Amino acid sequence: MSNQKVALVTGANKGIGLETARQLAELGYQVLVGARQAAAGEAAAASIGHGAEFVELDMAQPAGFGRVRDYVAGKYGRLDVLVNNAGVGFDNGKKPSEAGMDLIRGTFEVNVFGLVELTQVLLPLLSKSEAGRIVNVSSILASLTLNADPASPLGDWRSFGYNGSKAAVNMFTATLAFELKDTPIKVNSAHPGWVKTDLGGEEAPMEVAEGAKTSVWLATLPADGPTGGFFHGQERLPW
Ligand SMILES: NC(=O)c1ccc[n+]([C@@H]2O[C@H](COP(=O)([O-])OP(=O)(O)OC[C@H]3O[C@@H](n4cnc5c(N)ncnc54)[C@H](OP(=O)(O)O)[C@@H]3O)[C@@H](O)[C@H]2O)c1
Repeated sequence: MSNQKVALVTGANKGIGLETARQLAELGYQVLVGARQAAAGEAAAASIGHGAEFVELDMAQPAGFGRVRDYVAGKYGRLDVLVNNAGVGFDNGKKPSEAGMDLIRGTFEVNVFGLVELTQVLLPLLSKSEAGRIVNVSSILASLTLNADPASPLGDWRSFGYNGSKAAVNMFTATLAFELKDTPIKVNSAHPGWVKTDLGGEEAPMEVAEGAKTSVWLATLPADGPTGGFFHGQERLPW
């Protein structure tokens, strides 16, 4: 088995995911570019270079997760890094009292249920790594502390589906990290910052190069690094 570390990034065809995959590839990782559209995934992998490989992965289609596990197991025998980056915000800008249940359910389907199930399916492969790292891409909008404070900088960004789904992601981080505390696997939540992407919008102040840094740091933590935390940059955020 090769010593090169293997990292799977979901939603890696564009935005923060693509940049996270690029930065990990530049650090010498064998990167697997998870994407639901083959053309976009292939193009992203080609643009990254360094042997990056497209892996078809639709977070709303968990029936396909076993195929990804079998492929990674057959080709690499283990997984060192899982960056759960794919995310949607179907009810962004909608009031909690008015957002359609289809939008709320759809957001949870990708951000929470897909993320949790993929992690469960890939955990046996992460356990084969000497230093498994799971990065759950969350958001500062997940913070119960900040959502509960009317004066917090979150302002009007208080949709239930998106914020609630990311709060659930944070709970998955905390509970899974506790379960795995006596193993080498570290599990952390990342807030990328407000980043210029299709999701973040044009007005966002940060570029993807900066926005990927929290995920890359958490994906490459040394053995004495933290687990079960919620970070932006290397600073802890309030849950
Ligand atoms: N941008 C920000 O300011 C910001 C702030 C806080 C947190 N975040 C989080 O950062 C992560 C990346 O967001 P981004 O800003 O880079 O957004 P983005 O440019 O819209 O990228 C989202 C990625 O998720 C993928 N995705 C969506 N639904 C999927 C599905 N069912 N299966 C597989 N992939 C799917 C998209 O693929 P398609 O191209 O196929 O749709 C795309 O690759 C998300 O988890 C987001 O919540 C972003």
